[in-house]
Amino acid sequence: MRAGWLLHGRTPNDDDTICRDAADRSAGTTRGIRMTLLRKVADGPAVVACSTCCFTAGAPEDAEGVRGGRRLIEALHAVRASDSSYQRVAVQETRCLFSCTEHCSVHIRAPGKVGYVLGRFTPDADSARAILDYAVHHAASEGGRVPFSDWPKGVKGHFIVRVPPPGYVTE
Ligand code: FES
Repeated sequence: MRAGWLLHGRTPNDDDTICRDAADRSAGTTRGIRMTLLRKVADGPAVVACSTCCFTAGAPEDAEGVRGGRRLIEALHAVRASDSSYQRVAVQETRCLFSCTEHCSVHIRAPGKVGYVLGRFTPDADSARAILDYAVHHAASEGGRVPFSDWPKGVKGHFIVRVPPPGYVTE
């Protein structure tokens, strides 16, 4: 693990570090900018889910060798496809969000709105529905503030950080 990745006592997923280093080496660098760090996606309301999160605290993968983050992404896609009200929110995946100890983790974001990183989710349909329900409210909110009365039960206690959008800070 890179020493510079020790953030407030939390560390990125070691497995992801290995994957990322390998990808960096194979892609090379251009003028010091790592070409593999960012990948362009649609700039709209989205649930950005970590694909590399562990399945449980003691097991990175389930019995079929699939990581918890991947299972949560599968559940998010399945739930999103089941209800047209979720269509305005995209499901996107990313590698490590640096909240590995709080797996499974997601980032809920939308242009011009405060975004939130949430974690401690079980990778299943109930979690996916709660995340998407919140994301729909978030996409429709002013500035990213969702009234507490609209919070799905399944997201309460799962918030880790809020992140002001580019060009803004919170008051
Ligand atoms: S593996 Fe680090 S946040 Fe998911």
